[in-house]
Amino acid sequence: MNEDFLDKKLQERIQANALRSLIINKDKIDFCSNDYLGIVKNQLIEKSISHPLSHGSGGSRLLSGNYPLIEETENSIAAFHDAEAGLIFNSGYDANTGVLASVPQKNDTIIYDQLSHASLRDGIRLSFATSFSFLHNDTRNLEKKLAVARNNAQNLFVVTESVFSMDGDYAPLKAISDLCEKYNAALIVDEAHATGVVGQKGKGLVQQLHLQKKCFARIHTFGKACGAHGAIVLGSEKLKKYLVNFARTFIYSTALPPSAVEAIALSYQTFPTMEKERTHINELIGFFKNAQLPYRILPGQTPIQVVIIPGNEVVKKIAQTLQENHFDIRPILYPTVPKGQERLRMVLHSFNKVEEVEAVVALLSKAKS
Ligand SMILES: Cc1ncc(COP(=O)(O)O)c(C=O)c1O
Repeated sequence: MNEDFLDKKLQERIQANALRSLIINKDKIDFCSNDYLGIVKNQLIEKSISHPLSHGSGGSRLLSGNYPLIEETENSIAAFHDAEAGLIFNSGYDANTGVLASVPQKNDTIIYDQLSHASLRDGIRLSFATSFSFLHNDTRNLEKKLAVARNNAQNLFVVTESVFSMDGDYAPLKAISDLCEKYNAALIVDEAHATGVVGQKGKGLVQQLHLQKKCFARIHTFGKACGAHGAIVLGSEKLKKYLVNFARTFIYSTALPPSAVEAIALSYQTFPTMEKERTHINELIGFFKNAQLPYRILPGQTPIQVVIIPGNEVVKKIAQTLQENHFDIRPILYPTVPKGQERLRMVLHSFNKVEEVEAVVALLSKAKS
């Protein structure tokens, strides 16, 4: 078949200096991965596996793919996060699309933070509910939208991340939760970048703020600080029963195999004990925030530190200089972020050293001069 029809959009990307391609970058100092605590780098899960388990589950959970380990793991993770029930999905993407496409109905309204992750956005697009965004972390704007929607919608849902993946800032969760209570809206929080990193034992921002009973659903993913793969949706037993019956990404997909679930269970035995690692990350964050940089740094206080360098071409060039100096720091380009907001996204890990951060700061200062 002639594939020329694919060229038009690819050419658009090339012209915008924004063509994506796959690269393998193993020999560099990692300021890029979501392996915040070094669980993957240091092979902590592999080291604690005593006997290999099956790499196949044999089917969907509703057919032949259910087994005791996956149910036990769901129950213990739900207990750890102080939730009534939990349901494991094959990825955070599946969890978010599964919940949002199945729970809100035609006469409902979903109001979501404008910077919500693509998996949340895609789930919302698949839903038959009405939807609109509110300005990033702007609770006044959210309240305005809630007030209007309350008059028209049957059920209202508010969707946010607790730590934003591209801006590295926290959501004002307490204020959002109060608004949800005032307007009788169900709160859905994606804790992907908070899991393992934020709060006591890495339980996440919701629990740090004691808001777990105020959330309708929480999504914790296992592919980031947990160093594994998959995700869990936490909520009531009723929500779990509903998702088992209606979430298509849960129903129509082969269940995670026992080997993957064992890795998740081992991660949940490991990361809660990693207080030293979390403390070190916080020290690195403090160090970076105090550095004198010739660029604007976004105000987030999380391991995702963002240096704004407008223009795809400029930010790509600076990222290339960093790469040539063996630092794996990636540029985030338009159209992933709005024009003028192009950036370096630097992820601080427990295994990064102060001297490495210092070297990055020096290179960034030199790049501007
Ligand atoms: C905020 C957020 N939610 C969900 C996901 C998807 O999780 P997963 O990688 O497990 O599919 C990501 C990952 O990129 C994310 O950053």
